[in-house]
Amino acid sequence: MRKKIVAGNWKMNMNLQEGLNFARSVDQYFREKPAPKAEVILCTPFIHLQGVSEIIKNGKVELGAQNCAAEPSGAFTGEVSATMIKSTGAQYVIIGHSERRSYYHEDDRLLNKKTLLAINTGLKVIFCCGEVKEEREQGRHLIIIKRQLEEGLFTLPAESMKMIVIAYEPVWAIGTGLTATPEQAQEMHHYIRGLVKEKYGRECAEEMTILYGGSCKPSNAAELFSKPDVDGGLIGGASLKKEDFAAIAEAF
Ligand code: 13P
Repeated sequence: MRKKIVAGNWKMNMNLQEGLNFARSVDQYFREKPAPKAEVILCTPFIHLQGVSEIIKNGKVELGAQNCAAEPSGAFTGEVSATMIKSTGAQYVIIGHSERRSYYHEDDRLLNKKTLLAINTGLKVIFCCGEVKEEREQGRHLIIIKRQLEEGLFTLPAESMKMIVIAYEPVWAIGTGLTATPEQAQEMHHYIRGLVKEKYGRECAEEMTILYGGSCKPSNAAELFSKPDVDGGLIGGASLKKEDFAAIAEAF
């Protein structure tokens, strides 16, 4: 059975002390509970990685970053490399989040470069894709996702695909309170799995974890996760409240 994942994306929230305190309480919560059916990941800002890594050691929570540089090292002021992320103990990195695509103009080619670099550094990549509202209204959502995956991800060799988690995050659902219906999520996830199958074969497609993100909360998580192709969630706002995040992680 393929891996289920619930990942919290803190985005640019919490200072160092607040973040470490929060990570401590999430870590503690999961240590005291039987292991949830889903792997739990915290994707924190860079400055929290090292501290959170120490907190979660030998526990049940995993760690990821939210971005990485497109170059391995050198004169790139302000950037953080995949190697640096890996050296904190983090195992994951989010690449291609819609906020990176739109606010920082990260295009498919750049995201492809980052993805290859992260994988070659030994990081697992949560690769995000998603259409904006107009694209869905015009009925172009499938074609947009196809392009994002073909150009950003499908240049990877087959053996690298086990390092990939795909996250479908419709941009119109992120932080808006508007969630994709379970049927809309299932339709897209099924489509994405089909694309993976066409490119990499049935086994790879069956094993690919595909997460849903966009206003996922305790009240809708169980229904979304009950769909056969929805393997968990990438959680923004609700990952900043321990009770909500825990409830989503336990929604399976
Ligand atoms: P919200 O859960 O706040 O809608 O954010 C989703 C998201 O962007 C996770 O990466």
